Amino acid sequence: MRLTLLHTRVRVEERLLIDELERRGIAVELVHADEAVLDLTAPPTPDAEPHVLLDRCLSHAKALAVVRAYESMGTVCLNPSAVTHVCGDKLLTTLALTDAGVPSPRTIAAFSAEGAIRAAELLGYPVVIKPCVGSWGRMVGRLNDRDALEAVLEHKLALGGPHHGVIYLQELVRKPDRDIRAFVVGGHTIAAIMRHSTHWITNTARGGRAQGMPVTPELDGLCQRAARAVGGGEHSLLAIDLLEDPVRGLLVCEVNSTMEFRNSIDTTGVDIPGCIVDHVLQIASTPVATV
Ligand SMILES: Nc1ncnc2c1ncn2[C@@H]1O[C@H](COP(=O)(O)OP(=O)(O)O)[C@@H](O)[C@H]1O
Ligand SMILES: [Mg+2]
Repeated sequence: MRLTLLHTRVRVEERLLIDELERRGIAVELVHADEAVLDLTAPPTPDAEPHVLLDRCLSHAKALAVVRAYESMGTVCLNPSAVTHVCGDKLLTTLALTDAGVPSPRTIAAFSAEGAIRAAELLGYPVVIKPCVGSWGRMVGRLNDRDALEAVLEHKLALGGPHHGVIYLQELVRKPDRDIRAFVVGGHTIAAIMRHSTHWITNTARGGRAQGMPVTPELDGLCQRAARAVGGGEHSLLAIDLLEDPVRGLLVCEVNSTMEFRNSIDTTGVDIPGCIVDHVLQIASTPVATV
């Protein structure tokens, strides 16, 4: 078996995975996305041995391109590019969840300032605005009224660029001072945390405090459905954010395809890197399984 770890920086998570592989005596080839040079027109030359790529790339665009190219060479990639494609874009994720009947916050996309104001009126203020491609709570905003929305829209549209032209607006879910993050490995929910914060944005990157919680059958069932909705099956490693709505119960907020787990090992008591490595090795031993 040949194992490649694709990355853009060796952070705590990548270090934990590499250490876990080393402990088991498994060689891993580290590939920095910036160093990849891929001949897209060369005929595929199948590896003599099963080749598995674990994508830990921080850049969505680079991950998508490199993983897709490796797939054409016959490499089994976790996550598959199709899953990364959907999870890396909140608009695509929302549509995939809706198509599969998985509950998520009401969301409206608009493509102009006028459209966004109309969308916010339909949702009712406050509204939440998010970049379609983003993470760590960056540029996620709560807009309490039309004045605030107009100010943000003026900036977005004046800054220009294709990313600012798609405006993703969502109802503000009246959740308690926390959200839920669940870790789904190969379609099974292995662990979950609550992220507590006095701020409505609860990402641990923004100061949210992680606390382990049990994986209830309800949580597991919903996470499995969300994972399937974004195309994730046996070959997927996903972290799912959920919001507790006082009336509707759990809503899936987003699905992350390059999960961070450094704050969730001690808090859950689950050896998350160990579970990921177990799963990767299991996939490597059955590389022809369909995605
Ligand atoms: N519609 C919403 N209502 C209430 N809180 C939200 C909503 N959307 C996001 N949040 C809060 O903001 C955080 C970041 O939003 P998220 O969609 O997960 O973006 P990111 O990719 O930046 O993590 C969530 O973990 C949650 O705490
Ligand atoms: Mg999130």
